[in-house]
Amino acid sequence: MIIASNFKTNHTRKSTREFVSKVADFAKNLSVDVRIYPPSSALDCFDLSKNIKIGAQNFYPAQYGSFTGEIGFEQLEEFKIDSLLVGHSERRSILGESNELIKEKFDFAKAKNVEIIFCIGEPQTVWAGGSLAVLDYLWNQLEGIDLKYEKLIIAYEPVWAIGTGRSAPLEEIENTLSFLKEDIDRPLLYGGSVKAENIAEILRLKSCDGVLVGSASWNVENFIEMIKIANEELK
Ligand code: PGA
Repeated sequence: MIIASNFKTNHTRKSTREFVSKVADFAKNLSVDVRIYPPSSALDCFDLSKNIKIGAQNFYPAQYGSFTGEIGFEQLEEFKIDSLLVGHSERRSILGESNELIKEKFDFAKAKNVEIIFCIGEPQTVWAGGSLAVLDYLWNQLEGIDLKYEKLIIAYEPVWAIGTGRSAPLEEIENTLSFLKEDIDRPLLYGGSVKAENIAEILRLKSCDGVLVGSASWNVENFIEMIKIANEELK
């Protein structure tokens, strides 16, 4: 079971250190797999147990080069980063990343043999069209992605549920994840307004293998509480 925290554009280098150290202390002997994605300015080498990884929220698909403002793979290797978020909806909608660029990032990261949390999710207008429209949209986002890549994790995050405090209804999450599971033999996460109050019921869904959490995870005590609940669900 994977519990991941996406810091987005929050936390400093100092507060990331404190956060990671508290989480590492708490989770080191648990069976839950924890992932933390700080902003790139806070990436560093941390002393962690095997079930905890620090990852990058973004990178440019090049080892190094002239890509002003971007971070290449060489800069990630410096900190032994081996988990990456690819295709997050904020990168798609705010930064304008196309399916093509996202596929390029996926292929690059795959060639480097690192873990990829590949994010997909439909906007509200598509969601309003019903479950077939949603699946159609998601399959389009997955086009050209090697779904057999052994370090691939998929995060299903409906755009309208991200940062809104309104998680998707449980039945719909299960419905979508179970359809994806028919063709994808990799862990499937849900993301979108996951918090301590709803994490247990989401993790209990048959097809759900974990969660990707944004806002509710930025406070370290909240994130630890979520890890604790997840660990209890494993028993
Ligand atoms: P949220 O963000 O938990 O704040 O909805 C989730 C995400 O963007 O991954």
